[in-house]
Amino acid sequence: MTPPTLLSIAAQKMKKRSLQNFSQKSPDIVVIGSGIAGLLSALSASEKGSVLLVTKKKLSSGSTPYAQGGIAAVLSGTDHFEKHIEDTMKAGAFHNSREVVKYVVQKGPQAIQKLIEFGVKFDQEKNKNLALGLEGGHSENRIIHAKDATGRIIEKALIAKVRSHKNITIWENTLALDLIIEKKTCKGIKLLRNKKIIKVPTQVVVLCTGGTGQVFAHTTNPTESTGDGIAIALRAGAGVRDMEFIQFHPTAFFKKENNRHFLLSEAIRGEGGILINHEGKRFTKELAARDILSRAIYEEQKHGKVFLTFENTKSTKRKKLLELKKRFPEIFTHLKKNGYILGKNPIPITPVAHYLCGGIEVNLRSETSIKNLFAIGECARTGLHGANRLASNSLLEAAVFASEIGGNLPKIQQTNFKIKEISEKNISNTHQKIIKKIQEIMWQEVGIIRTKNGLQKAFSQLNKFKNHKSREVKNLATVAIAICKQALQRKKSLGCHTMK
Ligand code: FAD
Ligand code: SIN
Repeated sequence: MTPPTLLSIAAQKMKKRSLQNFSQKSPDIVVIGSGIAGLLSALSASEKGSVLLVTKKKLSSGSTPYAQGGIAAVLSGTDHFEKHIEDTMKAGAFHNSREVVKYVVQKGPQAIQKLIEFGVKFDQEKNKNLALGLEGGHSENRIIHAKDATGRIIEKALIAKVRSHKNITIWENTLALDLIIEKKTCKGIKLLRNKKIIKVPTQVVVLCTGGTGQVFAHTTNPTESTGDGIAIALRAGAGVRDMEFIQFHPTAFFKKENNRHFLLSEAIRGEGGILINHEGKRFTKELAARDILSRAIYEEQKHGKVFLTFENTKSTKRKKLLELKKRFPEIFTHLKKNGYILGKNPIPITPVAHYLCGGIEVNLRSETSIKNLFAIGECARTGLHGANRLASNSLLEAAVFASEIGGNLPKIQQTNFKIKEISEKNISNTHQKIIKKIQEIMWQEVGIIRTKNGLQKAFSQLNKFKNHKSREVKNLATVAIAICKQALQRKKSLGCHTMK
């Protein structure tokens, strides 16, 4: 062995000093993710103790800012909890937990009220009542919205609250790596921040890391949706369930940017949008549940392109155009940039991966199978969605469970825990070529229509990536394998899991 040089001793001392310099009191609670679930959880948990809110990119990230349609809740005089419960159960192919469906639906109006108190401004009718839209699978108009930018408007208000909260510290550009587990209890989390691995001992971790759309070659989800929280939970030994139920949204704009497709909200069909095939003929019921519609479009695409359009009645044409522009300003602008006028031109559409109905298994208190580990939002499997989510029930689920998390946490103790840097090792985070490969395998073999052979083939191909040194590859592969495994276990079609 070569003896250490004076220079290398000095370098080691400097490294040690820089690691030791970083030592601050640990937070009581760590929330991972800053979508609707993370932002609301941080606000609610801050009533119990100090909160560190960690997010891998900017505070505004994840699927939340992209949500267009809105939030479902029973608010009109003609609507009733029972109707929303039955619509949710029916969309979920009765694989849902009726207890959870009832719980969430009944808490809906309260959750909406809380968002309004936090400063969210939803669209109103002239009489100041909330404007209620219609989406597929709903038997009543019950979608509360803010034009076609509902998620961004919610997020903007919540970010303002979180930023000004004295009990919440925000760490952006910080990646959650793995949980620290001792005796089946969560004791903290390891993070990657400024190229350093940091150990944060804490009393509670709440995973709010969103969905997994990025495992597919075609998705509405942003680049952040790589299923990290689910991969982290799996590595820690937490229960993960219903991963085979990937919802494909029927009407994404055909043109993709990387693997992401711009969404054409279901609310457009709620306003009279129809679907036609390459011969200009209607071929399905436009407001059927998403699994039914996605399959119908998928079959129709074997013969040619499918389009979203409006029926051309001359007398209403101009009025309708103005109405659509006002109701869907962001969609209208996006399409115009791409050469299409909503309401005038047939717009090519395609079904793409949109939402994960399963995830980390939790109970009504958002507790996972690991003590002091909680999960909320799209990464959690509460039992609300069953085998297929009803439109606009996702923001609702996140809002209900996140705004209650403070009350469900264990008693916070006084501690002297300190945050520590444990290594300066540079983790390679991405590997685009392999990620593309995973996305293609999943799209080809684990997409809208699945076969046993295809699932087995995908499973064996994906296995070689599960210990990859890139974090993103490792997480994507872990989640993709879980989807394949659970899909293989479910031999018959159910909800959005379709076997041929
Ligand atoms: P997200 O909003 O996805 O947030 C996840 C957060 O976790 C992000 O901040 C991300 O950066 C962070 N994160 C992830 N991994 C890590 C890590 N390792 N370390 C640190 N941070 C991490 N639902 C509805 O109910 N109504 C709608 O109208 C609607 N429209 C939609 C439109 C689109 C285009 C999409 C994609 C989804 C839509 N959905 C809708 C679904 C809904 O938006 C999402 O399910 C919901 O926003 C998820 O919220 P979340 O807080 O759980 O996760
Ligand atoms: C949409 O606007 O169509 C999306 C709604 C949802 O995903 O719930």
